[in-house]
Amino acid sequence: MNTQAGMPTPLAAELKAHTGRFTDKTFDWKAFPSNVGYDELARAQMRYIGAGGSPKVGDTTTLKPDHFTLSLIYKEPGRYAACHSHEIEESFLIINGALVVGWERDGEVVEVNLGPKDMILNAREVGHGFRVDGVEPVLMSISVDVGKPLPPVYHYHPKDHPPELARSFGAAPGKTMPFDPQGEHPLQKLMGQYVVRHSEVPTIWEEAGFTRKVYVGPGGIDNDTCRKEMWGIPSRAGVKAFTREVEDAYLVLEGSLTVGWEENGEQVEVELGPRDLVKTPAGKAHWFRNNGAGHATVWAVIGTATDDGVTYQAA
Ligand SMILES: [Fe+2]
Repeated sequence: MNTQAGMPTPLAAELKAHTGRFTDKTFDWKAFPSNVGYDELARAQMRYIGAGGSPKVGDTTTLKPDHFTLSLIYKEPGRYAACHSHEIEESFLIINGALVVGWERDGEVVEVNLGPKDMILNAREVGHGFRVDGVEPVLMSISVDVGKPLPPVYHYHPKDHPPELARSFGAAPGKTMPFDPQGEHPLQKLMGQYVVRHSEVPTIWEEAGFTRKVYVGPGGIDNDTCRKEMWGIPSRAGVKAFTREVEDAYLVLEGSLTVGWEENGEQVEVELGPRDLVKTPAGKAHWFRNNGAGHATVWAVIGTATDDGVTYQAA
């Protein structure tokens, strides 16, 4: 990091202030007031950008949101999240474990089982819940596609409904359908448009020498809020500085990535490891490079739905 007489420059301090380190953060088991008193709903949240679905918007260790929030959620086997909906899209990207996500409409539910690097974009106003049926805890990254979402609206919370109905997201026995994009039911067809399997997303090799899988945005799920992509950056690959008209955020999933900012001829950089994040504000020239021997896998969230005209050039 650049320094003048041992002190970080303003640009270096700004980059540090836009970096979220996994080891500087803690999981908050009390992020969701509606879960208090219901052990089966327990989940922990680690906030990087904004508060997401938690009302804890005053957390000063969290980066200020513009067009999206980003957090990690940890949930243990046997626990679930009660069926609820939002006014805006919300994505679940699975990092570890297997997560069952259910969508409910008129007492019928479609359930999908998601594995590592799979994602679902929960559509606006569609009731959704999730449950860990597997043997290992789930870690996932949740992004809400607006800086400050309204509180969730609960459809089948255990305080209002029998425990078994709440656990099945509102489906009475026999009313749960499997995920099937070719299924007959309209809810199966709808969910089919919002689930992304990592193995089914085309891998785009950029001329700059890294890969992109487009989850949300042109080529992926059609959407009018944000773009979401999985990048693979081989050892020693990197790009020249570029700017966007909106913010972007890089959450490292595997390996390490160096992110740099440039301003008035000055360059500063930070190396990210797994579960570290940098949010680069709109208009800031930035670049990335993998200085390591192994590849880096990065979850990139970009604050616009449209192609912002950025072309990546090998550095
Ligand atoms: Fe939600």
